[in-house]
Amino acid sequence: MVVYQVYPRSFQDSDGDGIGDLNGVTARLDHIRELGADAIWLSPFYPSPLADGGYDVADYEAVDGLFGTLQDADALIAAAHERGLKVLFDVVPCHTSIEHPWFREHPDWYVWSDRDGPQNNWRATFGGPSWSRDPVSGRWYLHSFYPEQPDLNWRNPEVPRAFGEALRFWLDRGVDGFRIDALDRILKDPQLRDDPAATGPPPLPEAHMEAGLEQRNSRNAPDIGTAVAQLRAAAGDDALLVGEVYLLSGGLKPYLEHLDACFCFELLHAPWEAGAVRAAVAAAAATGQAAWVLSNHDFPRLPDRVGARNVRAAALLLLTLPGMAFVYQGDELGMADGSDGGHDRAGRDRHRHPMAWDTTPNAGFTTGEPWLDVVVPADGPASEQREGSMLDWYRSLIALRRDLEGELELLDAGADVVAFRRGAHVVALNLGAADRPAPATSQLVLATPGATAATLAPGGAFVALG
Ligand code: NOJ
Repeated sequence: MVVYQVYPRSFQDSDGDGIGDLNGVTARLDHIRELGADAIWLSPFYPSPLADGGYDVADYEAVDGLFGTLQDADALIAAAHERGLKVLFDVVPCHTSIEHPWFREHPDWYVWSDRDGPQNNWRATFGGPSWSRDPVSGRWYLHSFYPEQPDLNWRNPEVPRAFGEALRFWLDRGVDGFRIDALDRILKDPQLRDDPAATGPPPLPEAHMEAGLEQRNSRNAPDIGTAVAQLRAAAGDDALLVGEVYLLSGGLKPYLEHLDACFCFELLHAPWEAGAVRAAVAAAAATGQAAWVLSNHDFPRLPDRVGARNVRAAALLLLTLPGMAFVYQGDELGMADGSDGGHDRAGRDRHRHPMAWDTTPNAGFTTGEPWLDVVVPADGPASEQREGSMLDWYRSLIALRRDLEGELELLDAGADVVAFRRGAHVVALNLGAADRPAPATSQLVLATPGATAATLAPGGAFVALG
């Protein structure tokens, strides 16, 4: 399955306020269908003060006026289903917005320090201590992310109950499943003990490395599976559940027992060199439930991460691996990062610039003033991308993907080359800076300009019959 990630704020504005909205998404569904995707995942559009781009939810069962209405959400779900697209919403169980009524009405649904100050040495993901003083009660609450995002206490049975209701609210409206945010954070050490000093670099890059702590107690508690099981029980067996779990593949078992898939962050962060990419692919493929992803609204876009020369090869890798593949909006156009607009304190605006649709002002994203500039990709806006363009490349890859069957079998293809077999097909890409011999195949099926049956130029890649 190919899932297309829509970041609603930057996809399509329908009312001229410069901010993308749900009706805009509905109006552009044909773009996603023509790409060949099977499903869409929408980043949050719930009522929110937007302290964390909507991942600070103030009501799990409503639509923020900025993005539209509940009826617009219903219309979007129906229009997606008419086109054969499944719909995944984004749910945020770890924390609410500090403006969620629960924070005042049910303080015992949150995690508090028992003293006048931080309970322990835990550090928040975007910097600073994980504890802040609530000016109303004077007590200190836990927040794994920004201070505006108090953590829910999943050890209080009322929390899974209330959260389960929110899941069922959307399932009853026709949603097919969820991408579950920051899942490794929902259960911490029950005694809230300090994190120990780190003995090496973190397994995956951290936004703020200054603390030098190993996040042993502040997340991924040994009994985390019980909370994941509660989410599955609430959603039912038919819902598609994809976990955002910020751990290496080897640690995903308690999550994967209850979820359909988890994102493979090892590959998203792997330096673009053959050894690291091979290792990440091998580790995640071994779980049998990888959700492959190379970019999203939190991390640099592909040209910025792997270099313009390697973007097509990276897309080819993403879309030929077995399992679910996630394509972040704009990647199919070859979008690069834009400038920092000063909205997100962690500097992630750069990865969230609006889509470039056509040659009208603001590339068709809005008739108003866009909240962030539209970044027009090297191959032009969507309407101008013809044969040989990035959009054409993505469409071809997704179409070809239907023919790829079988398990992944990594091949030894020499320096700088990652190659694997899938049934009758062989996939190969050169991640290095020099021409490399291609693995022997009988017939190329799809190849970048820099690839022939004999040689892979830097950034060259192909799918061939073995
Ligand atoms: C992961 C989301 O993708 C990110 O945007 C957000 O800041 C954190 N989780 C906290 O919700």
